[in-house]
Amino acid sequence: MRDAARLLPFRRAHSPRDNHPPISAYLIVSGPATSLIAMTQNPVEKTPVTLLGLGAMGTALARTWLAAGHPLTVWNRTPARAAALAAEGARVADTAAEAVAANSLVVLCLLDDTSVDEVLTGTDLTGRDLVNLTTGTPAQARARAAWARERGARYLDGGIMAVPPMIGVPETGGYVFYSGSRELFGRHQDTLGVPAGTTYVGEDAGFAALHDVALLSAMYGMFAGTAHAFALIRRENIDPAALAPLLADWLVAMAPAVHRTADQLVSGDYTDGVVSGLAMQVAGTPTLLSTAEQQGVSPRLLSPYFELMRRRLAEDGSEEDLTGVIDLLVN
Ligand SMILES: NC(=O)c1ccc[n+]([C@@H]2O[C@H](COP(=O)([O-])OP(=O)(O)OC[C@H]3O[C@@H](n4cnc5c(N)ncnc54)[C@H](OP(=O)(O)O)[C@@H]3O)[C@@H](O)[C@H]2O)c1
Repeated sequence: MRDAARLLPFRRAHSPRDNHPPISAYLIVSGPATSLIAMTQNPVEKTPVTLLGLGAMGTALARTWLAAGHPLTVWNRTPARAAALAAEGARVADTAAEAVAANSLVVLCLLDDTSVDEVLTGTDLTGRDLVNLTTGTPAQARARAAWARERGARYLDGGIMAVPPMIGVPETGGYVFYSGSRELFGRHQDTLGVPAGTTYVGEDAGFAALHDVALLSAMYGMFAGTAHAFALIRRENIDPAALAPLLADWLVAMAPAVHRTADQLVSGDYTDGVVSGLAMQVAGTPTLLSTAEQQGVSPRLLSPYFELMRRRLAEDGSEEDLTGVIDLLVN
């Protein structure tokens, strides 16, 4: 369960490194941390941050650290992208090596693992705390953690569950998965919590990427389903804008089913708490496929899932709901 307080990084006020006396215990403020600074004679010292990569996401991250009063050093392959941030108070390094040398906390937000390799090759990482928010696979994250260790750096991997407009806006619920060194996460949790909430998912450096990809994969399944639904009404006199709230509400109503799935996976009893049996659901699939055909819609998004449902029912799933399909996916 995510800690709700982590979603409100601007509302807590204390030294990230706990090396300052509290201003007045833990102040609760209603505005961003910068307004807290203006209110006090003894502003909290903020951890300096180096950020490599100023694309859409990197720029959004940078702005939140600047707004919260963190000294920020930035570098980007295309220097022009740093100009606006320089005007907002960021120090712009000429090279990635210079940026890495500037601060012990180094955050990367680059396109992919190849670009991380290109940017960090030749930089001295000794004693650095690397936090890599670049999207990658679990295997890439594990390899990057070992690579960083060999170069004398500590490593945290991150998976961003947000789009740039959600960064620095806690109400949107955006957050970042972190995995790798627990000690490093603890040390920088407050600084990392400035742009978005933080959710630590374990010492295995690959777990942040794995959680990220798991959620994104579920999201694409949802998008595939909604694409099919909109296709069904495409040639009818039905306003897509009228269907949209019905779809959204239905998906929200169905979403809690994931908890029953998890319970069944944990207990190993896939018949426990079954509400809509697999046999009934399989019996309903011809209706969905025939309707698709009548509406001139390809079944290509639905058919693979229905095929797995039929297989599970034929094998052993007559008392189950849909959980057994998961085992058919795992090689
Ligand atoms: N945007 C989103 O909605 C979103 C959401 C979640 C996660 N993410 C992740 O956040 C990361 C950054 O995304 P973004 O939206 O900022 O992407 P972006 O706007 O395309 O920016 C990519 C960044 O990577 C740099 N880059 C690419 N190839 C490079 C190379 N070979 N050497 C050095 N720098 C290189 C680019 O530098 P130049 O400016 O020189 O091209 C730029 O700073 C990605 O891993 C993405 O998956 C993004």
